[in-house]
Amino acid sequence: MDRILKTQIAQLMESVSETSLLPLWARAMESARKDALFRDEKAIEMLGAIDYDFSRFKKAWMSQLGIAVRTELFDKIVKDYLRQHPNGCVINLGAGFDSRFYRLDNDSVQWHDIDLPDVIKLKRMLLKSNDRYHTIARSILDYRWIDEINKSEDPPLIIAEGLLMYFSEEQIKALMNKLVVAFPKATMAIELLPMGAVGNSKWHEAIGWMNTTFKWSVDNIKQLERWNPAIRVNNEWCILDYHWERWGAFSWFSWMPIYRFFLGERVVLLQFQ
Ligand SMILES: C[S@@+](CC[C@H](N)C(=O)[O-])C[C@H]1O[C@@H](n2cnc3c(N)ncnc32)[C@H](O)[C@@H]1O
Repeated sequence: MDRILKTQIAQLMESVSETSLLPLWARAMESARKDALFRDEKAIEMLGAIDYDFSRFKKAWMSQLGIAVRTELFDKIVKDYLRQHPNGCVINLGAGFDSRFYRLDNDSVQWHDIDLPDVIKLKRMLLKSNDRYHTIARSILDYRWIDEINKSEDPPLIIAEGLLMYFSEEQIKALMNKLVVAFPKATMAIELLPMGAVGNSKWHEAIGWMNTTFKWSVDNIKQLERWNPAIRVNNEWCILDYHWERWGAFSWFSWMPIYRFFLGERVVLLQFQ
């Protein structure tokens, strides 16, 4: 693993890509705990290899825990998919410095991490590609990436974790319409921000000072079925319903609608027809 210098990581500042450093930090912090929900050795290594002041996240315990719980939920989805489709194909949109491939690789999946060129350039210094692990340097809205996927016979699993909130509803609709045509019968797992966070990124405990805006979420996820008849909502989980032992006093209030409105991040599983 190469080192990423301050001058190199500076390319990500002032753009949405700086947000990728928060989940990397959160997964590395989680992995160092005795009661860790998962262990991500690559996250620990990458954190050590990047010259960035990660101490600015140190008070963001709720974000750290939220990301750890959502990681566990996404991991379960990936493991279930790989059990059913051992030779399948995973497409991780806006992958940032995620190292899920290295954590969950089953020795036969085709895995694709897609992110903006500035991020992928740095990620390639940290994690090596191979004949099953591919990194694609494109905007997810530059649909040429679809032709660059090493498709398997099985319908793929598409992941959008910590991503869709940075796009407008129109952009997301256009993306979904492309995906259902390009990948019929695919499964897609998305993260949904709590509605109260939309338009309020400036108040976020960990990324409030970054140059980015939370643009989108949806209250009733069934709305997506109205966007395109090929989209079916399969399941939905809220991070507040897991690991109450870690949320402390906050777990007492987690049933309250107002609490869910501001903190109830969800992971949603979609099935394309
Ligand atoms: C909060 S990070 C999440 C990273 C990763 N999914 C994770 O959970 O660690 C958001 C990521 O979305 C990427 N991103 C934002 N806009 C994008 C676009 N148009 N195309 C591809 N990636 C994009 C950013 O560069 C960043 O890596």
